[in-house]
Amino acid sequence: MSKIIVLGASGMLGTAICEQLKNHNLQAHTSASLDILCSQKLHEAVATFKPDYIINCAAYTAVDSAESNKERAYAINATAVEKLAQIANQFGATLIHFSTDYVFDGNATTPYRVNYPTAPINVYGASKLAGEEAIRRTGSAHYIFRVSWLFAPHGKNFFRWVAETDMEELNIVDSQTGSPTSALDVAAFIKHLIKNDPAVYGTYHFTNTGSCTWFAFAKAINDKLSLNKKINPVASFKTAAARPTYSLMDCSETEKTFDYKIPSIEDGLEHVIKSYKS
Ligand SMILES: NC(=O)c1ccc[n+]([C@@H]2O[C@H](COP(=O)([O-])OP(=O)(O)OC[C@H]3O[C@@H](n4cnc5c(N)ncnc54)[C@H](OP(=O)(O)O)[C@@H]3O)[C@@H](O)[C@H]2O)c1
Repeated sequence: MSKIIVLGASGMLGTAICEQLKNHNLQAHTSASLDILCSQKLHEAVATFKPDYIINCAAYTAVDSAESNKERAYAINATAVEKLAQIANQFGATLIHFSTDYVFDGNATTPYRVNYPTAPINVYGASKLAGEEAIRRTGSAHYIFRVSWLFAPHGKNFFRWVAETDMEELNIVDSQTGSPTSALDVAAFIKHLIKNDPAVYGTYHFTNTGSCTWFAFAKAINDKLSLNKKINPVASFKTAAARPTYSLMDCSETEKTFDYKIPSIEDGLEHVIKSYKS
């Protein structure tokens, strides 16, 4: 059975991945037990446990705050990630890391393929891209999965906000198109990958298939949970960080390489609702 270290284990994706991998030999670290900014502790943890895989779910994810906290965003999303990849390489562990649709500029009109030129339009996206590039530079055995618009029955996310807000009328942006992606589905895929690792390392896209706007997604949540809220489309809100208008990513290479059928957005929502209600 594989030995696995998970970093950022209490985050939205980290929680889902730890749940999926709970029957593995797992060492799960929160930021309190292992701060990825502390390379000495990272080194010690990997040297002692000698994992087959290091799954990095730790990240600076506050997209708007990143605009004014650029140094910290880069420290966590790029510098620490580079060190982590070097350590993984030194001890022969495969690094599984997550990136974002925000590495693209949002001006495309067809789904972004993995090798499409990146051009982030906010600090968060730029810091995540720097993390990707740092991993690739180290030459370590790695998988980078660009995911988008994550939601889950736990953690802070759009699904839970719509489901739990007291507001009866919600104004939701209708000008951004993307693929809301269930963190549970990402976690199920990671379990599949670890069980059937083809060792075809590189950068891949993983999102639930299909597309919608935040407004359409809010309406779907509202309908499925019978919330009876009034959902209004709005063009945009003023936010500190710009958001890409279009961020669909082509996942066909992922499905082919890993022989895996990625669930649709509708199925992803069903999975999250089922778990949310249980
Ligand atoms: N959420 C999305 O919509 C989305 C979209 C695209 C890509 N992604 C990517 O997917 C991955 C998972 O995101 P998520 O939504 O699960 O994020 P999240 O819920 O914000 O979790 C991030 C985790 O990182 C931990 N962390 C932050 N700084 C750390 C540090 N210095 N040392 C160790 N841990 C640290 C946090 O711990 P504390 O809370 O204790 O600080 C938190 O548990 C990230 O790489 C993110 O960039 C997310």
